[in-house]
Amino acid sequence: MSRKNDKKTPIPKNTQENSPVNGDEKFLDQTLRPNSWAEYIGQQNIKDNLKILLKAAEQRKHPPEHLLFYGPPGLGKTTLANLIAKETRAQLKSTSGPAIEKVGDLASILTNLSPGDILFIDEIHRLNKTIEEVLYPAMETGSLDIIIGKGPSARTIQLDLPPFTLIAATTRIAMLSAPLRSRFSGGIFKLEFYSDEEIEKIIERSAKILGVEIDSEAKKEIAKRSRSTPRTANYLLKRGRDLAQVKEQKLTNNIVNEALNMLNIDELGLNNEDRAMLTIIEDKFNGGPVGLNTLAAALSEEQATIEDVYEPYLLKLGLIERTPRGRTVTDRARKHLGKKLKGLDL
Ligand code: ADE
Repeated sequence: MSRKNDKKTPIPKNTQENSPVNGDEKFLDQTLRPNSWAEYIGQQNIKDNLKILLKAAEQRKHPPEHLLFYGPPGLGKTTLANLIAKETRAQLKSTSGPAIEKVGDLASILTNLSPGDILFIDEIHRLNKTIEEVLYPAMETGSLDIIIGKGPSARTIQLDLPPFTLIAATTRIAMLSAPLRSRFSGGIFKLEFYSDEEIEKIIERSAKILGVEIDSEAKKEIAKRSRSTPRTANYLLKRGRDLAQVKEQKLTNNIVNEALNMLNIDELGLNNEDRAMLTIIEDKFNGGPVGLNTLAAALSEEQATIEDVYEPYLLKLGLIERTPRGRTVTDRARKHLGKKLKGLDL
């Protein structure tokens, strides 16, 4: 059974993942990942809670309880899962909702786990309902119920699974059913956008790993335009580094500005697609409200792209509002676009 809106979460434009990435660059992205809690910057409250949870589980000699991370793309959900595996010296097995097509796929993954393994399921909102139901007993009692045969002769066999921890990630918490959500007994954690100071620290650390010298102004500029998102900050740092290298110059504020202007990323970190969304709401729909499906059609974008990639940051900046009747742009957005202001919401 497929669900409404269960499209793959699109990869944001202007992030490292949809740039032409070669093997070296992919490898680099791995090397920029933090290897310990000390290296993981930001999300302090999540870190504090996880450290206690992991320590307590270790003292009880039991795998940590199941965890769910949610939030916009690029904020570090996968990074956290990797870090938990490193910190607990557990083996991490990674898969994703859309990769698990049949009940048998999940049964095979679960029965191949070793005691203490961490199973990471990215995009868990894309798991279909029948498969999801196999997860319930696996998460709750560590058993796998398999139905053999069909019709009146069908019977269920129950397999005991090794103790394991499921870590799941999603950009769409609202698409998870209540029964699934309730089985994340270790907790459900929302990743927040990072502060400029945190992003600057991440850039500083990444620059060190990449072996580039970056001045403080340039660091601030990248942070300002990073959408408060580490993945984007690292992408912008690498593009600045490219230009500095080609021009045989240092990574200064001027070079960063030139590189980011070439990518059409403005001073708020908005790209062409963000600006197109604001402009269409303002010009074509008189500032809104406009419904999501109408907006998606007008932009030739997936609804999921708008909801997962563009909206969270535009909402954070107060450039749009979500009302029961649809999306509207604010005067702050009109000011940014150089349009005539309408009200007093600045
Ligand atoms: N790279 C990506 N996310 C990070 C984080 N939160 N801390 C340090 N480096 C990162």
